[in-house]
Amino acid sequence: MPNSAKAYIELGEPVPRVEQQPYAAWVIEGPLQRFPEGESSPDVSFAELCFARRTSYGGIPLTMAEVGALLNLAARTITAVHASDREVAKLKPAISAGAKHPILLVVFEQTVDGMLAHVYDDERHGLVALPQVKTDAVAALYRRAMDSCRSEQGTLFLFVAEWGKTASRYTQHESLVWRDAGALLQQFSLAASALRLNCVPMGYTGDALVRALFGDDGRFCGVGGCLVSTP
Ligand SMILES: Cc1cc2nc3c(=O)[nH]c(=O)nc-3n(C[C@H](O)[C@H](O)[C@H](O)COP(=O)(O)O)c2cc1C
Repeated sequence: MPNSAKAYIELGEPVPRVEQQPYAAWVIEGPLQRFPEGESSPDVSFAELCFARRTSYGGIPLTMAEVGALLNLAARTITAVHASDREVAKLKPAISAGAKHPILLVVFEQTVDGMLAHVYDDERHGLVALPQVKTDAVAALYRRAMDSCRSEQGTLFLFVAEWGKTASRYTQHESLVWRDAGALLQQFSLAASALRLNCVPMGYTGDALVRALFGDDGRFCGVGGCLVSTP
């Protein structure tokens, strides 16, 4: 047994609530930069993909067309079933407990003017810029995330958990969100491989970066992410 209080943290057993609690999900506001429709499907079989996928380093940042193609395979909403104003079940490429899909994606873009961060709108398949990201604190935390992926360059996808979504349906929901993050990470890794892109899963949770971007009220939490690049 490792001599560490953090060796095992009891997250408890999730139990579906008898009645779903009301929860108003965060709404992405701002001008939308839509990705073009009709992305082509990669010509690789599932068996080939399973054997070919590897963590791979050393490329350059993705073009916006590549970002769109990757998000299309990894995180786009295929259908959204609105049971009520506040209850939405989404179907996406990755599995998610209760179909809650509680993980938002922040995509970092390095430009000549500095770094931009965008939130992915998975229903409209486009990006909305986050305001006020060009601070020294954000730049330092971004660098730390890149370092954890042992990379100088690439396009960082930060996974941001909105706990309230899964908590509205389950008690002791935390482990479900972490397991969703793992499923999403695998989906990104497979999708990147299918598109012949490099992908490095990020061991850093990115929580401090998430708090610098979204505030410290506990609504959002960093649950990892990945760095994708063009070989
Ligand atoms: C949760 C998780 C976190 C990881 N964190 C890092 C990381 O911070 N840096 C890194 O270079 N690789 C990271 N990896 C990649 C693993 O090292 C890699 O998956 C492993 O060596 C197996 O290699 P493969 O992905 O090529 O099969 C991570 C993988 C997972 C699943």
